[in-house]
Parts: sequence; C-alpha cells; structure tokens
Amino acid sequence: MCREVSIEVFRYDPGTDSSPSWRKYEIPFEEKNTVLGALLFIQEKLDPTLAFRYGCRYNRCGLCSLEVNGKPRMSCHSYLEEGMRLGPLSKLPLIRDLVVDRKGLFQDLAKYELFIEKNTDNTVIFEPEQGAKLRGCAECLSCLAACPKYSFGSDDFGGPFLFVKLAQLHFDPRDKKDRIEQAHSLGINLCQDCKKCYCPNGINIYRDAISTLLKVKKND
Ligand code: SF4
Ligand code: SF4
Ligand code: FES
Repeated sequence: MCREVSIEVFRYDPGTDSSPSWRKYEIPFEEKNTVLGALLFIQEKLDPTLAFRYGCRYNRCGLCSLEVNGKPRMSCHSYLEEGMRLGPLSKLPLIRDLVVDRKGLFQDLAKYELFIEKNTDNTVIFEPEQGAKLRGCAECLSCLAACPKYSFGSDDFGGPFLFVKLAQLHFDPRDKKDRIEQAHSLGINLCQDCKKCYCPNGINIYRDAISTLLKVKKND
C-alpha cells in the first residue's frame, strides 16, 4: 500500500468563515513529491474549494509562493514532508486560503517608475555580473514575507523586493535615474542587516542589492 503523509493547510475565506483554521489532509507520498503536487491532489481529489496560485510549475513565475512551516518557499520547488504546515505569505493582505493580494502591491510599486525609459540606441548592453544575478528574481515576494522590517502599506521602508528592483536598474547601463537616491528615500538605511530576506531563487539579496546600494552611497 502507498505510504501517506499528513499535512495541515491554512483555510480562511473572509467572506464566509468566522475565523481561520488549519485543516488536515492525508496525501499519498512518493519520493520527490512537491508541495504544489500535494495542493493539486487536495484540490482534485479531496477538496475542490482550496484556493492557491501557481503558473509555470518550474520556479519561474513566482506565483506559487507560500509559507512552509512559517518560512517563505515556492511550492513547485519544495519537497513534501510529513507534518508540514502550509500557510499564505505573511505581510501581504489575504484574499483566501493560500492566496494573497499581489495586485495591490504591484499597483503601489508603479509610482516608483521601475522601468528604463524608451531608448532608441540598439547597442548591445553588457551589465555587471551582479546585475545579471539579480535578474533571476521571479517576483515571488517571499523576501517581503521574511523581512521583519517590512510592513505592507507603509512608505517608511520599501522592503527587499523593491530594493532588488532598484539594484537591477542601478546595474543596468541604460538606466539614467538615480536609483541609489531612490533607495535611500525609500528607507534602505533602516534595514536591520539581519539578512533574513531569503530568496528561493538563490539571490543573495543583502549582498547583491541592499549592501551594494548602501555601500555605493557611502563611497560617493
Ligand atoms: S528577490 Fe527572490 S524572494 Fe524576492 S521576489 Fe525576487 S525571487 Fe522572490
Ligand atoms: S536584511 Fe534588511 S531587507 Fe533583509 S530581511 Fe533584514 S531588515 Fe529586511
Ligand atoms: S509555479 Fe511558477 S514558480 Fe512555482
């Protein structure tokens, strides 16, 4: 008989439930089952009302991020284990179950002009290695959930995701805006240097984005 693992999943629909709860599910276990695979199994076989997001299933789109035992992870890139607790990303407003509001955050970020102005020059661009590493950001927002200083809706501290975006632009030779100044106006100097901004895509956020932007300012 197939082995099963027991996991708990956060359930809450603010429209109908009086309070959140953790629901237990038994999932058939195979080596290298992913957390996303378990969620799909629940939705297909046990409980079609479970809400969660995913897209590429390959660590690229960033949509499947959630918290595994309180730590931000991508569900398509995390292996299933006995006793796991799966919850929504903290720090972002909850829509339902494992789904958080990403749209509000991205609408809010639009005011920071995180793009390169139209450039008619077609010269091939070579950017530094650090810039290329930062391009691996899948916009999963895990780093925000992990950051003790970040608070959604507050303008005091932009948060690690925004600082990664600013550092990407800072390293891009085509960008003409002063992203260092912008990072400082968004409170980068309030970073607690705790290095808790974990990135499931392997970006060293503190070293390659935050401390780099801070250092450049100091050496100006
Ligand atoms: S830097 Fe990493 S953790 Fe933060 S949004 Fe990008 S991929 Fe996700
Ligand atoms: S190092 Fe700074 S940005 Fe990263 S988690 Fe800590 S306070 Fe947040
Ligand atoms: S489903 Fe796209 S990153 Fe996981």
